Amino acid sequence: MSVLIAPSVLSADFGNLERDIKMINDSKADWFHVDVMDGVFVPNISFGFPVLKAVKKHARKPLDVHLMIVNPDIYLSAFADAGANIISVHYEACTHLHRTIQKMRQLGILAGVAINPHTSVSVLSEVIASIDVVVLMSVNPGFGGQSFIRNTYSKIADLKNLIIQKNSGAKIEIDGGVDLNNASELVRAGADILVAGNAVFSSTSPSNTITILKEAASQEA
Ligand code: DX5
Ligand code: ZN
Repeated sequence: MSVLIAPSVLSADFGNLERDIKMINDSKADWFHVDVMDGVFVPNISFGFPVLKAVKKHARKPLDVHLMIVNPDIYLSAFADAGANIISVHYEACTHLHRTIQKMRQLGILAGVAINPHTSVSVLSEVIASIDVVVLMSVNPGFGGQSFIRNTYSKIADLKNLIIQKNSGAKIEIDGGVDLNNASELVRAGADILVAGNAVFSSTSPSNTITILKEAASQEA
């Protein structure tokens, strides 16, 4: 699999959402990264089902939905119905993570688990074989445009080792502070999927920035 680029819709212009979705459709991006925040798990509220459905209506690429919410189990089927193709729940928000993963499997979506910067990858050891994506948060979740936490590189190495040791097919997704300066290094370290919000949408040509990210990532893969 080539390295995937997933622009984060959180940094899009919500007054021109259709335009920004079409830009991603026409770009070299692979997935739409969609950040759902509940104001409880993280100190911010983003958007919920109406916006997700609006994104789905225009998107021509898979929706990678990152749930920064407490008790995600009760909403999983609603997110699948709203068009999510990949759903990532937070390890820190799931008391019965194994059950949550089973539910995602039953729904026929790709199952992802995200971990915060303070969480060691070792907590995933008993479930890594049954998940499709691990989202390593490289910022504290809640906001776009934050600075990349460099400790993420050693977590990528640890995660890679765990994946090999457990014979898992899980892909490594990096979320937060990804930009043109660190994309290549992240892929060299073992990243499979790069999320980018601010780096894409604050640039003068978002579409061009996606192309450069994709090229930088592909050269290292
Ligand atoms: C942070 C979100 C990220 C964010 C990434 O809580 O999960 O997906 O949108 O944005 P940038 O690339 O601006 O850090
Ligand atoms: Zn995210």
